[in-house]
Amino acid sequence: MQKPIKNLVGQVADKENFFERPRETKKLWDALASGEHILFAAPRRSGKTSLLFHLQDNPKENKILIFLEVESVSSSVEFFKRLRDVLLQDDDLSSVGIRIGEGAKNVLRRIRGIGSDALAKIELADGEKMPPHKAFERLLGAVVKKLSDDEQLVIMIDEFAQAAQNIAENSPQAAKEFLLAHREIRQNRAFRDKVQFLYCGSVGLEYVTERLEASNAINDVRTVNLRPLQREEARELIQRIIAHENYPPEKSWFTEEIIAILLDRIRWFVPYYIQIFLDAVQTYSNDNELTELTETSIGKAYSQMLGVRKHFVWWEERLRKAFKGNEYKFVVDVLNTTAHKTSIDASEIANLAAKHNVEVFKPILEALKHDGYVVETGEASGYGKLYRFVSPILQDWWRLYVA
Ligand SMILES: Nc1ncnc2c1ncn2[C@@H]1O[C@H](COP(=O)(O)OP(=O)(O)O)[C@@H](O)[C@H]1O
Ligand SMILES: [Mg+2]
Repeated sequence: MQKPIKNLVGQVADKENFFERPRETKKLWDALASGEHILFAAPRRSGKTSLLFHLQDNPKENKILIFLEVESVSSSVEFFKRLRDVLLQDDDLSSVGIRIGEGAKNVLRRIRGIGSDALAKIELADGEKMPPHKAFERLLGAVVKKLSDDEQLVIMIDEFAQAAQNIAENSPQAAKEFLLAHREIRQNRAFRDKVQFLYCGSVGLEYVTERLEASNAINDVRTVNLRPLQREEARELIQRIIAHENYPPEKSWFTEEIIAILLDRIRWFVPYYIQIFLDAVQTYSNDNELTELTETSIGKAYSQMLGVRKHFVWWEERLRKAFKGNEYKFVVDVLNTTAHKTSIDASEIANLAAKHNVEVFKPILEALKHDGYVVETGEASGYGKLYRFVSPILQDWWRLYVA
């Protein structure tokens, strides 16, 4: 019997509530072992941050994994200051968005030995003669000298593309320089074999860099995608959640038939959607004092889940940030149409682009695919490829609450 898992909703899952994803974990370790820099990409809520925490909690000997989250960062100075703080801050970090695994703590203590010397005092302030990334590069140079021969520092930066996009909102030129600065750091011979960057994000970094005409700034980074669970794994996760003592509905209510109904509705199997659905079933069965589950009650719980705005609203907000003016209208029109009709073909998309005077729409469509809104169905109408929402849950929400 597998260990029960608590139905956490919205907290990053770690330790005993982490549902193992061996395929995905291996992919990341293999990429890290190859020494490459990595872009770890998948739509929001697919479990990226949870997986990074899992790597930290189960490290491989020679990799020192540090984690910082930069979603709200909006300048290069702020970014490199944070990065410096992770390396040099005192123990017992309490800062939000920073996480150091147990194993890495000892190594960082060693590194902090350099905290007292001049390097740590490098000011990363605006108006300094030295650009912030140069100052950071010097610090990193000193840090790697403290590592033993077989140790490598892995700097995991969560929501990196979002930070780049925030910077671009103030100044596209600054964002471009920021991305190129990262490349410069990665290419620095002094620590090429000692430091690896793992950029993580829900927002397509490729798209952000393309927009800034800086695609070459990331062409040395290898993309690793996080795939959703397979149906069998999703079934196992459901079984482990309903077996947990903190999950009130009776385990016996979840017959094979009921589980199949849940799985059919979810279809895009990421832990989050499984958890919010099971949460909705719990609330619904409690409020209505159910003594069994039926297709009807599952359907009602599903509708209630869709009514919880905070589960989904990010998907809408994010588009507003990423696209402006006519492009925004075009994107919303495409999604509205797809939500209603379940699929849309290439010629309809082209028509909508024409309607909104959007001349170059292929990269926008790519971004929608990449960021987890739509996928190709694999079929085609007489007018070209067909697209649908990746997640039927998101499709239903979009149709009911946005379109
Ligand atoms: N491996 C996992 N085991 C259990 N729950 C998970 C797992 N991965 C993700 N979750 C759930 O999904 C939610 C979103 O995961 P998170 O790691 O924050 O995704 P992302 O970083 O891709 O947005 C978490 O709050 C957690 O409830
Ligand atoms: Mg995350």
